Amino acid sequence: MEDNKKVIFSGIQPSGSLTLGNYLGAIKNWTNLQDEYNCYYCIVDMHAITVPKEPKDLRKNTLEVLANYVAAGLDPDKVTLFIQSHVSAHVELGWVLNCMTYYGELGRMTQFKDKSKKQENNNITAGLFTYPSLMAADILLYQTDLVPVGEDQRQHLELSRDIAIRFNNRYSETFVVPEPYISKVGAKIMNLQDPTSKMSKSDTNDNSYILLSDDDDSIRRKFKRAVTDSLGIVKLSDDQPGVKNLLGIYSKITGESVDNLVQKYEGKGYAEFKEDVAEIVVNELRPLREKRDDLLKNKDYLEEIYHKGAEKAENVARKTLRKVYKKVGFIPR
Ligand code: AMP
Ligand code: TRP
Repeated sequence: MEDNKKVIFSGIQPSGSLTLGNYLGAIKNWTNLQDEYNCYYCIVDMHAITVPKEPKDLRKNTLEVLANYVAAGLDPDKVTLFIQSHVSAHVELGWVLNCMTYYGELGRMTQFKDKSKKQENNNITAGLFTYPSLMAADILLYQTDLVPVGEDQRQHLELSRDIAIRFNNRYSETFVVPEPYISKVGAKIMNLQDPTSKMSKSDTNDNSYILLSDDDDSIRRKFKRAVTDSLGIVKLSDDQPGVKNLLGIYSKITGESVDNLVQKYEGKGYAEFKEDVAEIVVNELRPLREKRDDLLKNKDYLEEIYHKGAEKAENVARKTLRKVYKKVGFIPR
């Protein structure tokens, strides 16, 4: 049995095609953990609707994220892959945790501040505001030890920990308090046009991100146009955020240390460096894209995966939810 293994939980929103940032910051790390840990990887469709979504896009993106998970090497026989809305315990615990999360805490979340600025006519939903307590529910339902995410999720995770501790203190030990699992390299892949902000699929300029669905030539073109600086020296410096980002991408994919890379490109110009980074990304993403496209042709197989995943997740989640309901004083049915 998997009982003695530590538990990992993570999730991605199906809110458009995934980026190289999602892949290097999250999914690629997940594949390395699947043997050692008991892993739950979720597609958080309920989080996705905190900002307006076209139903048909949401359906398409949800299956695409699942196909990307499998194409990237997550083995459905080893890990639990499921869709958040299939396990109703998430919103049920989410409500209880909402009642234990403070307005001030939610208002301090930088993702909320960023996303609410982008909403037209100031149409900021309550769902967007309480998004982090649903995320805490996702994590705490599985008695999660580690949460592998990119750097941008650190603040949400801190809040999940605070909520877990608060619940445990008020009602007695109930939840494992989760730890973030954020890798040193690749945890924040930056925007190729503005390397001081993170690569995000919601950016309006499509040269600023690499999508997992981009073809080889688009990837090459985007790296060629990537913003660097006028120094012309490949080295690791905060004054050269563009070069630093490209070094991080290169190192994360090949496993070569940044120091080695700096040596390798000594005396060479940015053009050659950028071309090499592009080739490395092209070669990493091509097999993934091909496998993903094949999987998307086989909807029955994908359905089988998410059915099985939901069943496994549900069993574990229900157990935690029952405990929580009892502790807060709800009468069992
Ligand atoms: P999201 O697309 O916001 O649902 O993010 C899914 C996962 O990808 C989370 O673990 C994020 O931390 C990670 N992620 C998103 N963008 C980046 C980025 N630019 N660099 C590294 N990780 C990222
Ligand atoms: N908030 C995460 C993001 O935007 C997605 C997410 C939802 C998540 N629930 C989670 C990540 C639980 C890790 C664990 O990237």
